[in-house]
Amino acid sequence: MSKPRIFATHPLFESPRKLLDAQCEVEYWERPERPPRAELLKRVADKDALICLLTEKIDGELLAAAPKLRIVANVAVGYDNIDVAACTRRKVVASNTPGVLDETTADFGWTLLMAIARRLLEGDALVRSGKWTGWNLDQLCGADVWGKTLGLLGFGRIGRAVARRASGFRMRLVYHDAVRAPAEVEKELSAQFLERDQVLAEADFVSVHVPLLPETRHFISAPQLAHMKRSAYLINTSRGPVLDEAALVAALDARQIAGAALDVYENEPKVHPGLLHRQNVILTPHIASASIETRTRMATIAAENVLALFSGRRPPTALNPEVLDRP
Ligand code: GLV
Repeated sequence: MSKPRIFATHPLFESPRKLLDAQCEVEYWERPERPPRAELLKRVADKDALICLLTEKIDGELLAAAPKLRIVANVAVGYDNIDVAACTRRKVVASNTPGVLDETTADFGWTLLMAIARRLLEGDALVRSGKWTGWNLDQLCGADVWGKTLGLLGFGRIGRAVARRASGFRMRLVYHDAVRAPAEVEKELSAQFLERDQVLAEADFVSVHVPLLPETRHFISAPQLAHMKRSAYLINTSRGPVLDEAALVAALDARQIAGAALDVYENEPKVHPGLLHRQNVILTPHIASASIETRTRMATIAAENVLALFSGRRPPTALNPEVLDRP
């Protein structure tokens, strides 16, 4: 039997690559820029599997261009780039990488929270500028983190991993999620469920951890920002379109909130120009899960999903496993 043919839109990493190369014929996109759409459509035409990043849009057009395709393995937990229903209609398995990036992403949420509260980048810039004249009592005073209220919007795996880290800071923890967590989880994490607007009103730090769905697009917009304290900070490591960037700029202009730290943007890689030159905003390039260990695990899970399918096993993290049960 001939080997399954795969297009991977990234060179991946050594260990997942070895796994794939041992059993499949893999074409890797080796160039540093993302593959242009026309190139992607061309490359998938004769492939049995596609391993892609969240920058690739997997829709009806792509599926139509790939008549042999049996699986699309996304190297990301968020899969708003994939039309899963369209995959299901064509009996194409779609998979993501849940569970392996929660702790790393939570670490980064805290990195942003601490950095914005304690004015880390301003301090770094001052030292590098050569203009620092020495210790001063009121220099770059930020906000305390310990003892404050942390508000989590979204209390799934990543939200809870962020919550676990709060106890060392002796913070009060409030959260909102479409589904309330079981009582034992709330107890273990000392987390109090509140309505979304109440979380926004009570938190000193609001950290967002909801997936991007039609109902979470602009989940945080002008009315929600208006609920926040003037002294509060907003942290977003989820998906850019969850936050209305123009509304955030307006809220910052009006000093409705103290600042924001963002890892994701509405139109990546574009960033609203009104965010670019503010000292009370930190901007990072969608790297919350970017540790070498975690990104390797993510690529490995994508490879395992593909290999499982072609060896007659169930892809471990299929999003539409019902495809496998249909004749
Ligand atoms: C990254 O943003 C992911 O969804 O894995």
